[in-house]
Amino acid sequence: MHDDTWLVHAARAHATTEPQRPYGVVNPPVYHASTVLYPTLDAFRRRAEGPAKYHAVRYGAYGVPTTFALADAIAHLEGGRGTVVTSSGLAAVTLALSAVLSRGDHLLMPDTVYGPTRDFCDTVLTRFGIETTYYDPCLGAGVAALMRSNTRVVFTESPGSLTFDVQDIPAIVAVAHARQALVLLDNTWGTPVFFKPFRHGVDLSIQAGTKYIAGHSDLVIGMITARTEALFCQVKDTTMAFGDIPSPDDCYLTLRGLRSLGVRLRHHQASGLRVAQWLQQRPEVKRVLYPPLPADPGHALWQRDFTGACSLFGVVLHTSEEPAVAQMVEGYHYFKIGASWGGYESLVIPAYPAAIRTAVPWTEPGFVLRYHVGLEDPEDLLTDLDEGFQRLQRALAGAPSDREGA
Ligand SMILES: Cc1ncc(COP(=O)(O)O)c(C=O)c1O
Repeated sequence: MHDDTWLVHAARAHATTEPQRPYGVVNPPVYHASTVLYPTLDAFRRRAEGPAKYHAVRYGAYGVPTTFALADAIAHLEGGRGTVVTSSGLAAVTLALSAVLSRGDHLLMPDTVYGPTRDFCDTVLTRFGIETTYYDPCLGAGVAALMRSNTRVVFTESPGSLTFDVQDIPAIVAVAHARQALVLLDNTWGTPVFFKPFRHGVDLSIQAGTKYIAGHSDLVIGMITARTEALFCQVKDTTMAFGDIPSPDDCYLTLRGLRSLGVRLRHHQASGLRVAQWLQQRPEVKRVLYPPLPADPGHALWQRDFTGACSLFGVVLHTSEEPAVAQMVEGYHYFKIGASWGGYESLVIPAYPAAIRTAVPWTEPGFVLRYHVGLEDPEDLLTDLDEGFQRLQRALAGAPSDREGA
C-alpha cells in the first residue's frame, strides 16, 4: 500500500471489526478514560499479564483506543515494530533517551541537535551520571573515533536544527552497531513520509508530531517508534514509569492531521523549493541552508536517502546588523515570528548557531534566519519577502553595513 492510501485508511480497521462500533461513523472515536472496568477480581489481577501490559486498554495513563490507533498508524508509516505516543516531541526525545541509557553510559550527540535536547543532556542526564560528547554531524563513519567502551547511544538528527546539516545515517549505524551501540534519530524534518528510518538501520525513530504530522499549529505531541518488539517494550515501560501520555483529543486531532499529510507535504515541498531558489538569487542572501538545493553541502546525501523535503530551511544573510534585520522581519505580512514549524502557516525566527555549538563552532559572519514555508500561495510569500528586502536595504542605507563577501 502506498503511503497516501495508508494515510487515509490507517487506524480505521478497528472501526469495521469492533462489534460495538458506533453507527458506521468513518473516523475512530475519541475515548476519554482514566478508569477501565473489569468483571471479576481475577480479570483485574491479570490485566497486565503478557502482551496486555503493552497492548491492552487497561488504564487511561497507558493509552486508550484513540492512542493505540494513532500509534499503529505511525508505526506502519515509519516502518517500525511499534510506536509509543508521548505528550510532546521533546518528551519523545527525553523518554527515548531515558529508555536506553543508564548511569555510567556515554552518549554521542550531534552538535546540530535541537536546543532543548541538548539542555536535557547537559542538565538531567549529567545529573544522572550519563556523559554526553557533542560531535560534528558531518563525521559519518568518523564517529568511530569518538566511540568509547561505554558508548551506548549515537543520537542523530538529520538534517540538524538551524543549519540543516545532513548526516550519513547508514554509515553511523554501521559503526554504532559494530560496537553494540544503538542509533536514535530525531526524524521530524524527514517526516515518516520522506525518510524511512528503519530501512537505514535506525533503532528508535522520534517524531515531534506537533509539526507536519498534526500540521495545524494547535497541539503538541510526540512519537517514538522502535525497530524491534524488545525495544518497543523497553520504551513503553519507560513512558508508563514516567506517567507520560498525550490526551485522547490530541491523538484524535493528530489522526485527522495524518489524513492530509501527504498532500500537505507535497505542497510544502514545492513552495519551499520555489521560495528557497528565489532567496538563493537575492543579493542580500549569502546562502540558503536547504539540502534539496544542489549547492547545499548535504545535497548528495539527501538525494541518496530521502524521497522528499519539508519546507523548513535556513538563510544566511550578508549583513549581521540585527536592527536592520528586525526592520525586514517585523514588517512581514505572512512570515510571522514564532517558534515551531510544520503547521499550515509561514513562520520566521532568528537563529543563533554561534551561541550554541561547541564541537564545530559556527564562525560564519551574517545573520541567520530560519524560515518555514506554509500553505499560502508562494507568489504572495515572494512578494512579502521582496518587500522585506526593500526594508532591509533602506535600513542598511541608514546604518553601518556589514557586506563582507557580498
Ligand atoms: C527537531 C525537533 N525535535 C523535537 C522538537 C520538540 O517538539 P515539541 O515542540 O513537540 O516538544 C522540535 C520542536 O521544535 C524540533 O524542532
